[in-house]
Amino acid sequence: MARQCTFYSGSILLFLGFIGFVFLPIDAEAAVKKYQFDIQVKNVSRLCHAKPIVTVNGMFPGPTIYAREGDRVLVNVTNYAQYNMSIHWHGLKQFRNGWADGPAYITQCPIKSGNSYTYDFNVTGQRGTLWWHAHIFWLRATVYGAIVIMPKEGTPFPFPQPYSEVNLLLGEWWNTDVEEAVKQANKLGMPPAMSDAHTINGKPGPLFPCSEKHTFAMEVEWGKTYLLRIINAALNDELFFAIAGHNMTIVEIDAVYTKPFTTQALLIAPGQTTNVLVRADRTPARYFMGARPFMDVPIPVDNKTATAILQYKGIPNTVTPILPQLPPPNDTEFASSYNDKLRSLNTPTFPANVPIKVDRHLFYTIGLGQNPCPSCLNGTQLTASLNNITFVMPRIGLLQAHYFNIKGVFRADFPDRPPAVFNYTGAPLTANLGTSSGTRLSRVAFNKSIELVLQDTNLLTVESHPFHLHGYNFFVVGRGIGNFDPAKDPAMFNLVDPPERNTIGVPTGGWTAIRFRADNPGVWFMHCHLELHTSWGLKMAFVVEDGKGPNQSVLPPPKDLPPC
Ligand code: C2O
Repeated sequence: MARQCTFYSGSILLFLGFIGFVFLPIDAEAAVKKYQFDIQVKNVSRLCHAKPIVTVNGMFPGPTIYAREGDRVLVNVTNYAQYNMSIHWHGLKQFRNGWADGPAYITQCPIKSGNSYTYDFNVTGQRGTLWWHAHIFWLRATVYGAIVIMPKEGTPFPFPQPYSEVNLLLGEWWNTDVEEAVKQANKLGMPPAMSDAHTINGKPGPLFPCSEKHTFAMEVEWGKTYLLRIINAALNDELFFAIAGHNMTIVEIDAVYTKPFTTQALLIAPGQTTNVLVRADRTPARYFMGARPFMDVPIPVDNKTATAILQYKGIPNTVTPILPQLPPPNDTEFASSYNDKLRSLNTPTFPANVPIKVDRHLFYTIGLGQNPCPSCLNGTQLTASLNNITFVMPRIGLLQAHYFNIKGVFRADFPDRPPAVFNYTGAPLTANLGTSSGTRLSRVAFNKSIELVLQDTNLLTVESHPFHLHGYNFFVVGRGIGNFDPAKDPAMFNLVDPPERNTIGVPTGGWTAIRFRADNPGVWFMHCHLELHTSWGLKMAFVVEDGKGPNQSVLPPPKDLPPC
C-alpha cells in the first residue's frame, strides 16, 4: 500500500489515517516539517476516459505542503515512475540554496527512476500560498500541489481572520497521454492538441461529460468568511475565475499581501496564486465557481469552463447551481483594469522594498517564430526566443557547472538588449530576425539592482506571456501597450506600492517592467510559464555571483544531489 502523505512535527503526532498514514502537525513550535513524495503512476479517469498519469503518492492533485514561516522543510522524493523527475517549489526563494529549487538541468539533474532526492529548504521571510510542480517536460500536467505557509506563530493575517480556508488548484486535463502528445507534436513541428478540459482540484465539474462525480464542492455556513487559496497550475491558459453571486476580496498574490479590494472576477496566469476572502452572506443555495481562459488574440484555446460548487450548509445536492458571470474570453479591458488594482500592502510590517536606484537596465524582446524543419509536416517548426536567442537545455545542471566551474556548459553572454531595434509591436513580422540557439546566461554581480523590461513583439503573433523568475520576488513597476519608451515610460512607474510577485503577465502587444535586487547568489531560471512556449525555448537564466560577505555565497550541494 502506498503512503498517502506523511508529516512529522517535532515529536507530537496525531493519527488521522484511514488509507495509509496521514499525520497532521499539532505542535506549532516545530521547526522541521518532513514529507515523503512517492512518484507513482496511477490510473485516473476523467471525461469518460481512463489513463495512467504520473502522481505524487497516488494523489491528483498532489498533497499540500504545510509550513510556517521560519520552518525548515524536507521533502524526500522517491521516483517509482519510468519518467525522470524533478520538483520545483514555485515561488520559494531558496536563499543561497538553488540545489533545492528543482528545474531539471538548471539547478539539478533529474531524479532517475528508482532514485531519491531530498529537497531541503528553509521558508524564510515568506508566508502565503505558493505551489509545487514537476519541472521537467510537460509532467507538471498532473504532478502539482499547493504550498501553504502560515504566518509566524502569534502573527495574525493583516485582514479579518477567516473562519476556514480551502485550496483551489486550477489545472488542465488531456484525455490522451500528454508526454506522448508533445513528442508527436514536436516531430510534426506543431503545437500539441489543446487540453480537453479545465479542472478545479483535478475535477472538471458537471459541464463536462461523465463528470457529475468529478466535481469539487465546498460547504459554507451562512455568515462566515472563507479564505480561498487559488493557484493556476494550468499549462497554457491564463484564467478568469468567479463565484456566482459572491464578490471576492483580493488579499494576497504570489504569497505577498496586497491592499484589499473587492472584485466580481479575477484573472490568474499560469504560475500565479491569489488569495481571496469570500463571505457566505447570500441566499443559501448552491453556487458554481467557474474558471475559463482569457485569450485576446485569435489563438485557439480550450475555452470550456471548469466548475466547482460552493454549497450552503443544509442545501440539498439536488438544487441546480447558479452559473457565475465570467468576463468574455477576449476581455483585455477587464484584464488591464484588474491588474491596475493590484498593489502591495506596503505597511511597516510588510514593506515594499522597491529598488529605487537601478544598477543595470535589461530589455528583453519576446519572439515567436518558425524554423525550417525538412522532416516536419509543414516543413517548419515553431520556436520562441528572448532577444533572438532560443535557449538550449544543457545536459548537466547549470548550477553545478557554475559552482564547480565546469567549462563549456554555458556562456555568460546573454545580451542586455536585442541585436536590433525595430517596431516591436508593429505590423505582423514574419522574419526570424536572425534568431540563434544557445545556452546563454546573463551574469549579474551580487546585490545589484536590476530593472528588466519584457517587451512582447509581433513576431508571428502578439500574445500575452506570463514570465516567472526563480529565486526571487520582483516588483512590477510598470506596464503598457505598444513599445516601451525609455524616455517617457519610467516617469509613470509605481515605485511606492507596486505588486510584488514571482510571475507576471506581459500584456499582449505590450511590455512589463520589473525590478529586483540580485541578493540571492546562484543560477536562476526565467521563463514563460506557458509550457508550450517554454518548450519552444522562451527561457533563459541568470547567474548571480557570490558576494564577499559570510552569508553571500551559494551553499555547498547536498550529498544526494542527483548525478547526471
Ligand atoms: Cu512554476 Cu520554472 O516554474
